[in-house]
Amino acid sequence: MQTLQDVLAHGRTLPNALADSVAALQDSRDRALCQELCYGVLRWHSRLEALVLNLLEQRPRNRDRDLTLLLELGLYQLMYTQIPPHAAVSATVDTARALGKSWAAGWVNAVLRRFQRERANRLQAVDLDCATRHAMPPWLLQWLRADWPSDWQSLVQASNARAPLTVRINRRRRDRDAWLAQLSAVSLTGAHLTELPQAIMLSRALPVTELPGFADGEVSVQDAAAQFAAMLLALRPKQRVLDACAAPGGKTTHILEQAEVTLTALDIDAQRLTRVAENLARLGLQANLLVGDATDPASWWDGLTFDRILVDAPCSGTGVIRRHPDIKWLRRPSDLPALAATQQRLLNRLWPLLSSGGRLIYATCSVLRAENDAVIESFLRGHGDALVRAPDIPLGRALQFGHQILPGERDMDGFYYACLEKD
Ligand SMILES: C[S@@+](CC[C@H](N)C(=O)[O-])C[C@H]1O[C@@H](n2cnc3c(N)ncnc32)[C@H](O)[C@@H]1O
Repeated sequence: MQTLQDVLAHGRTLPNALADSVAALQDSRDRALCQELCYGVLRWHSRLEALVLNLLEQRPRNRDRDLTLLLELGLYQLMYTQIPPHAAVSATVDTARALGKSWAAGWVNAVLRRFQRERANRLQAVDLDCATRHAMPPWLLQWLRADWPSDWQSLVQASNARAPLTVRINRRRRDRDAWLAQLSAVSLTGAHLTELPQAIMLSRALPVTELPGFADGEVSVQDAAAQFAAMLLALRPKQRVLDACAAPGGKTTHILEQAEVTLTALDIDAQRLTRVAENLARLGLQANLLVGDATDPASWWDGLTFDRILVDAPCSGTGVIRRHPDIKWLRRPSDLPALAATQQRLLNRLWPLLSSGGRLIYATCSVLRAENDAVIESFLRGHGDALVRAPDIPLGRALQFGHQILPGERDMDGFYYACLEKD
């Protein structure tokens, strides 16, 4: 309850809010259940909320808003989990008491029982509204429909589905097939993705520390769509590479696993950059780590140009909602112009740092044109020395300038890539 309130009422991100709640639980099964319920309720929040309001004869008073959320938790268990209905109802009633609202116990019980009796009709009523049916904020659904008129339904469905655990084998430390072979020891299977040499999609999720060879740097967790970034850079030994928005280092480490390059990993957030350092240490890799603002190179750049630049820009995250359902409720439509302006500024300010003949990869985990092709289009208008190349990605779809993988395609996250070369 506290985690959900932290996200929905106080704007905290789910991983942050969840870390506190989970730390207080001793039993790993309780931790897993807490995580499952929080992710699930946030995945379906607006549909569950509409259902609660439909079931209630009157809106709860402001000070009883926590009971609406509690009912969402109860409904989520009844609709989307294997928890026996009587256990779901009694746990929800007990929570009302634990919240100091014993007077509401009978009421909570009655609302959930009513849902069980009238489920089909109640669902039919709330699902008449398209945004509610898909548990999407109306403004976001509108944007998705406008940008993806033929694909928005599958896109939205994939965004509400659970994401697989995909890993990347560190080719410097482990052979991919040898790593796959040892999975049976932990009752796992994995499928190698033909499009990517190091990507393996696992049959089920498990804590990263239980992945064979994780502590020894044999493997990292990284969605397959994100693994195209290092490939698109077309790295060669001894090149100077800038990873301009590096933290937590998923792509930094992949670049270094790929080739013997000199890499500068920059991020504006010092705390997040410590995670790059941890990942480098675990994988046995080295980079020059810098805290700095990529839009202000004068404050950190040594004046030597780079052969390759990766701009993995801060974005709306609309391609990774399946991993971060809180994005749906934390983002505002007004964030988009600000994000696009930052993305534009990053490209404009970093372009002079690229050597002639060099390559810059622009990436986002967004599916919105405003952060993707529109940013590139506007950049190209002001840079006659920039040549746009079609990214070589054997899935997804080629756009006018870049390339989009939509969430769910080959069970990957949504990702956008554009490839720019300097004349
Ligand atoms: C999408 S994340 C990068 C993910 C990372 N490349 C990876 O693969 O693990 C975007 C990052 O950009 C950083 N960032 C945002 N604005 C920045 C700026 N002006 N200069 C440098 N880094 C910035 C954020 O702190 C965040 O860590």
